[in-house]
Amino acid sequence: MTLQEKLYSLKKTDKAVLAANFYNFETLKGILEAAQSCNQPVILQLTQSSIDYMGLQNAVSMAKTGLDFYKVQGWIHLDHANNLELVEACLKSGFDSIMFDGSELPFDENIKLTKIAVKSAQKYNANVEAELGYVAKLGQDSGKVQFTQTNEAKVFVEETGINALAVAIGTVHGFYKSKPELNFERLSELNEALDIPLVMHGASGIPKEDVRKAVSLGICKVNIATEIKNTFILNVKKILSETDNIDLRTSFPVAIEAVKILIKDKFNYVN
Ligand code: 13P
Ligand code: ZN
Repeated sequence: MTLQEKLYSLKKTDKAVLAANFYNFETLKGILEAAQSCNQPVILQLTQSSIDYMGLQNAVSMAKTGLDFYKVQGWIHLDHANNLELVEACLKSGFDSIMFDGSELPFDENIKLTKIAVKSAQKYNANVEAELGYVAKLGQDSGKVQFTQTNEAKVFVEETGINALAVAIGTVHGFYKSKPELNFERLSELNEALDIPLVMHGASGIPKEDVRKAVSLGICKVNIATEIKNTFILNVKKILSETDNIDLRTSFPVAIEAVKILIKDKFNYVN
């Protein structure tokens, strides 16, 4: 089943799939073991930085082999691409889905480039996600508010032919400095106005009840990254501070297990 088919079926039933970013073999293993143990599908996400770190072919092969090995239903997704060359390279390498993030571009420019991404993806029957509004990225002003506008979103979806839209409803990437307040009213309006599945970015730190409410209002893909990185690194730090053993094959499994526990819990947020 393609990711676009999966997301549309989730939209009909007010359900969602977890999209987890991985950074190395260990975080991938933690995510896949959680998915296998909970019998849940999962989207494996890669950003440009993770691709640069692991190498495109390494990252894709590892994810594909992992899905087969753990017998997990899953898809490989390019997260927050802001250039079309990367989109093309990932599609060529076997990604099931790409996000072209033109949210910081002028509206017309975002439409123009997203349309090109959609055309490229069609050749591979791949899913396309795009974004409208402001969801602060790491290092950006998390106090700035610019929710996705419903009228703009309608025009954008019609013009571009995207499969899924990332919406700005009060989430930000990274850790929250204050309690996140989600704009459920806007989400509900967007859900009514648009026929396509909606995506929540910045889900790290959003309480379970809020994620569930968002899922009941059209969010079909829930993106989680920061908590995975944080869980992995904190656990590596802790175990290394307690031992002089240099064998990473005894230290890393502790951190992998912690990622697995985190993701198992996150599946409860989307179900
Ligand atoms: P967090 O890093 O805040 O969990 O956001 C994840 C995300 O949106 C990935 O695109
Ligand atoms: Zn994101």
